[in-house]
Amino acid sequence: MPAIDASADAPATVAGLLDALAGPGWHVDPAFLDADAVAALRAECLRAHAAGTFHAAGVGRGQARVNAGIRGDQVLWLDPDSAGPAGMAILDRLEDLRRAVNRDLCLGLFDLELHFAHYPPGAGYQRHLDRFRDDDRRALTVILYLNEAWRPEHGGQLRFWPEADGEPLDIEPRAGTLVTFLSDRFWHEVLPTRQARLSVTGWFRRR
Ligand code: OGA
Ligand code: MN
Repeated sequence: MPAIDASADAPATVAGLLDALAGPGWHVDPAFLDADAVAALRAECLRAHAAGTFHAAGVGRGQARVNAGIRGDQVLWLDPDSAGPAGMAILDRLEDLRRAVNRDLCLGLFDLELHFAHYPPGAGYQRHLDRFRDDDRRALTVILYLNEAWRPEHGGQLRFWPEADGEPLDIEPRAGTLVTFLSDRFWHEVLPTRQARLSVTGWFRRR
């Protein structure tokens, strides 16, 4: 009789993610979203960007301060009022993830702030932590990449430090890859990109 797995009812990818978050606290799933779903989400992102609805991303709580030397991306917040069908589908997937994490890991995730991010050529984001000094509600970061046929020479890798004083690893921002990590623990940066680089990025927050 096999041992009972607490996450037996979760899809395989979610089960692996839950194990990783309970252990090292970070996870990379190269196939969270299939090619059709990525293409639909990418099209929504590009349509909104072409319509001029994005704004320069800020730094710090409320993202009020824009500093292109620290981060050069533009963002559009994604919520049920603004999302198209593909945006709604990803919000639903992430809601399933929130419930699974709360059930298995008791993180008390309450809500999700989520945005599309568009890095134009030349843009990056300097090394940082996702939790603000004056606001500790961000608990779990999720980043989903929307870049088809991405190659290493396009740049834009997520440089991620599993240990603050250890060697970083570089994660390619390839279509369908989902990166998750505990927001207060892991230093990371976005290396300068040479092509327009698209993602959906968000933070599950505690109350
Ligand atoms: C962020 C961030 C990383 C990425 O938006 O806080 O670190 O790979 N993004 O887009
Ligand atoms: Mn970050």
